[in-house]
Amino acid sequence: MNYQVINLESLDSTNSYLQKLCREDTIEEGTVILAGYQSNGKGQGTNTWHSSQGMNITMSVLFRPMVKVLGHFSLSEFISLSIIDCLKHFGINGAIKWPNDIYVENKKIAGILVENSIIGDKIVQTVAGIGLNVNERDFPEYIPNPVSMAMILQRNFEIYKVLDVLMDNLSCKYEFIKQPGNILHGQYNEKLFRREIQCSFQSENEKFLGTILKVKKSGELVIRKQNGEACSYMHGEAKMVID
Ligand code: BTN
Repeated sequence: MNYQVINLESLDSTNSYLQKLCREDTIEEGTVILAGYQSNGKGQGTNTWHSSQGMNITMSVLFRPMVKVLGHFSLSEFISLSIIDCLKHFGINGAIKWPNDIYVENKKIAGILVENSIIGDKIVQTVAGIGLNVNERDFPEYIPNPVSMAMILQRNFEIYKVLDVLMDNLSCKYEFIKQPGNILHGQYNEKLFRREIQCSFQSENEKFLGTILKVKKSGELVIRKQNGEACSYMHGEAKMVID
């Protein structure tokens, strides 16, 4: 996929901006909105996304995947793996905290917000929002456990160089999602944060200890509970407790 970057100094949210563009005009697949600053960066659910002016990558990419709704999780997979490989390019070992947070050791370095538009049984448009902490070192107190590339490697990075590597990875891995034997699903499972390690989880009605076994193609997380039972959870039904 070819891509073209529109760089804007300040806007509310790159996801909202790109969606608005798509409503008003015919926008090409591969259009990237990169913002120096977001006044209302959106996170998962009701969360916000913090990024100080010019410090990090906050961007949204337009895809027209035309994959079946049932295969929606392949989008989270290819985007997560693209960030992992981008970090690896710069010498950083990341892991994917289900469903699509990117962690380095026990800290979050990137978040993904995928917003799909569906017609019939197909995903016709995906606005993939990515926030990657690059040069920020002083995060506000209210952010639980942030980390950036600069904090890990003790040097600053040129945002455009990181963006190029990330976009090359996204363009390349995107091609895999339509292939029948999509190899990215196995790679996603290999990169899972705390896989096969016992940890605490919080579901709607209990806090429990369990071990992540895998993530299914549907995106459900399979956890083996202490009584040996393997239980599947959809996004939002269980959350790992980071201690
Ligand atoms: C999360 O981890 O909660 C998801 C964070 C996603 C943040 C990015 S920053 C660029 C894009 N525009 C937004 O408003 N949000 C996403």
